[in-house]
Amino acid sequence: MVMQSRDIRKLFTEYFAEHAHVELPSSSLIPPSNDPTVLLTTAGMQQMTPYFLGLEQPPAPRMTTIQKCFRTVDIDEVGDESHNTFFEMLGNFSVGDYFKRDAIYYAWDFLTRVLEIAPERLSVTVNPDDDETRRLWTAVVGLPPERIHDDPSNIWGPVGDSGPCGPNSEIYCDRGARYGCGQPDCGLNCPRCDRHLEVWNLVFMAWFQEADGTRRDLVKKNVDTGMGLERISLIMQDVPSVFDTDLYLPVLQRAAELAGVSYGRDARIDRSLRVVADHGRAVTFLVADGVLPGNEGRGYVLRRILRRAVRHGRLVGIERAFLNDIAEVVVAEFSDQYPNLAQRRETIQRVVAHEEESFRRTLANGMSRFDQLAHTVTAAGETTIPGADAFRLYDTFGFPLELTRELAADAGLSLDEAGFETAFEAQRAQSRASAKEFEDTSRGRTALYAAAQGAPVEFLGYETTANDATITDLFSAEGAVEQREAGQIAELVLDRTAFYGESGGQVGDTGLIQTETGTFRVDDTQRPSPTLLVQRGVVSEGFVRVGQVARATVDAQRRQAIRRNHTATHVLHRALRIVLGDETHQAGSLVAPDRLRFDFSSAQALGQVGLQRVTEIANQIVLADEPVETAQSSYQEAVAHGAMALFGEKYGAVVRVVTIPAYSAELCGGTHVRRTGEIGPILIVSEGSVGSGVRRIEALTGDASLKQLLRDHGVATEAARALRAPIEELPRELRALQEQLRERERELEQLRVQFVATDVDGLAARATAVHGTQVLATRLDADDRDMLLQVGDRLRDKLGSGAIVLGSLIDGQPALLAMITKDVVARGGHAGKLMQEIALLVGGRGGGRPELAQGGGSDAGQLDTALAAVSGVIERQLADSTT
Ligand code: SER
Repeated sequence: MVMQSRDIRKLFTEYFAEHAHVELPSSSLIPPSNDPTVLLTTAGMQQMTPYFLGLEQPPAPRMTTIQKCFRTVDIDEVGDESHNTFFEMLGNFSVGDYFKRDAIYYAWDFLTRVLEIAPERLSVTVNPDDDETRRLWTAVVGLPPERIHDDPSNIWGPVGDSGPCGPNSEIYCDRGARYGCGQPDCGLNCPRCDRHLEVWNLVFMAWFQEADGTRRDLVKKNVDTGMGLERISLIMQDVPSVFDTDLYLPVLQRAAELAGVSYGRDARIDRSLRVVADHGRAVTFLVADGVLPGNEGRGYVLRRILRRAVRHGRLVGIERAFLNDIAEVVVAEFSDQYPNLAQRRETIQRVVAHEEESFRRTLANGMSRFDQLAHTVTAAGETTIPGADAFRLYDTFGFPLELTRELAADAGLSLDEAGFETAFEAQRAQSRASAKEFEDTSRGRTALYAAAQGAPVEFLGYETTANDATITDLFSAEGAVEQREAGQIAELVLDRTAFYGESGGQVGDTGLIQTETGTFRVDDTQRPSPTLLVQRGVVSEGFVRVGQVARATVDAQRRQAIRRNHTATHVLHRALRIVLGDETHQAGSLVAPDRLRFDFSSAQALGQVGLQRVTEIANQIVLADEPVETAQSSYQEAVAHGAMALFGEKYGAVVRVVTIPAYSAELCGGTHVRRTGEIGPILIVSEGSVGSGVRRIEALTGDASLKQLLRDHGVATEAARALRAPIEELPRELRALQEQLRERERELEQLRVQFVATDVDGLAARATAVHGTQVLATRLDADDRDMLLQVGDRLRDKLGSGAIVLGSLIDGQPALLAMITKDVVARGGHAGKLMQEIALLVGGRGGGRPELAQGGGSDAGQLDTALAAVSGVIERQLADSTT
């Protein structure tokens, strides 16, 4: 009798129990870690990670599990003989207990003695750097060195971006020549055949790997091993593929039966049956563990394999919805090992039925379109499906891109994916615009709601932030609908809800609404009429339907921040009236989680002192930890007792009064803290005017004010340290510093002027006489042309009569100035002409009047040459005029 897979599970668990291992249940396919880079459980060691890292104490140092696993890497290969997505992994683990020697011994002992696999059939791979393991394989179990192979890829882990990892050693089993390719070089990891199959992986978890790839030693040395149940069953049952083991056959045969075909006759049909069997098994297990179809993350993985199963079912001729028939077999076959399958049977049925049905509609609508499209492309002699057409299939018929890709591949065509992306992006931009429109017209939707609405919605949000309810209505942007699915925006109405709808200045609540088949993310809650509350958001997973029972959960932390801010507006209202007088009235408010805004009537600004007082009084009311009470009353009675109503606001006959005894009583429907102490520090962050006679303050409370106060204090402390002054002296210190700075600037300016003035004497002394005229041509270190002119003026005053040429490099370029006094001009001197000549020498141009000229050029190296030429030119000018 061949060994059944359930026998293997039992032998494995018993063997390790005998060797002091504690058996733990499989963890969920939704991984235990919060690591967002790990979508699904892919290995038995994931639930061991906190133990390996020393973060948590393990239930025992030796453990064993049979773990449900799901891997997407091979998803496109499923259908051949050995690839699958869902599988079971048999593992034994040591946390700081035994290490390589015993791990090797146990694996070998189990395979050869318990399962009675002939030792000659086994070989192993080791990490080339791991001499110890290589040695142990021979020393402990007598494996001859020629059956120990180096494999540089033998490092396993981490799962996700970082985590435990270590060198590993893999055990291969020879299935016999009849499963081989027969080539002389056939061996482990043969690219042509699966004769030598890896069955067991021993990982020696010794390191922690960071996201950047660096590794450090773990405190303890651990062992993690994994043996694929499907593969070891294949060996023990001596069958050609995992699909021929008892783990798949009943499922596969059910699929064949539904299709009216036989397994093992036609390769194409077999391939599709295997896809149905693998994906059907995976879908059942995933839904049982709480994964729901969606457009992201694991929800998308589920949706994708479910759709693929449906498509392959159709390929083998199953016309009707069939996945639940497959799921039934899976539940029957595996519930003894995984009892949650039977427990969640109804949910599995519902989710699978719905998703399959909606995908069948998609297929039915779009399939002939795809065929037409493929036909047009082929007829035109083309081989590529245009991206825009693929997008139209997606947009109009809900064909996901990978479906079009697969259909195209089946038809021998490729797909313009870049074109698809372009079309997709254009559509996204459009839908952003229309979502905005939905927002803008939301208040005009009251008639729509009224038409659909039954009884008034009961609001439970004063007492609780979570409740059970029934979905009474669903709306798309167009109108009432029965159902919304993952990725779709919607408005959802419950018969009773803890979600507060935006009103009285307080923003709407956000949170989640969950049903058995899906999750609705609430991004906002509106209150279009006093008796209607509408949760607005998007279905993030699965689907939701009118009539379903739902769990409504408000984001409680955000709500608490809103409560703080709302009560704070009442407190501030009071404080403002104390400071500004009772004629001050509220003119409007905004109560959001991150801040509050309060508008009030007042002719004058509060000023620094007023603000300080309002803040002080408000925080005194907080510190007094006054109770905040609410009561119902008639409007007249409430107002007669002095409760403040908002001018212009409509109130019903019965009103809610929020009271802080001794301080405040206001008509208000908002949510409040129970005692003022919960508000935390009230910090006014701005004050200003928003129109005639109306002023606005903005303030923070709770975490927000605390954070801001701490930040400001940190900055002030740092500044005080830098200035070596106490914090309270900072403003004075800074004013003093600014004054000092201005003083320094004034001094600097004076120095500069003085410097130039003194230097003028020195420069003037350098003048030489040319035909009885003083000529001064010199370099200067000037910052700008203005300084050249200033110095020139002073030199001219100093000399009284003569010709002055100053040259300087300004920003690296030669700049020239020439001045000639009137009397010298009368004798033939001409500054403009002089400049024309000398500017040429610096590779530039210049000119001007007889008495004043400027020039410049680009050849800095020739500035001295130009200056040297000056006396010659003057000499000529004066000589020319006398002749
Ligand atoms: N973690 C290793 C693997 O998944 C051994 O269990 O192969």
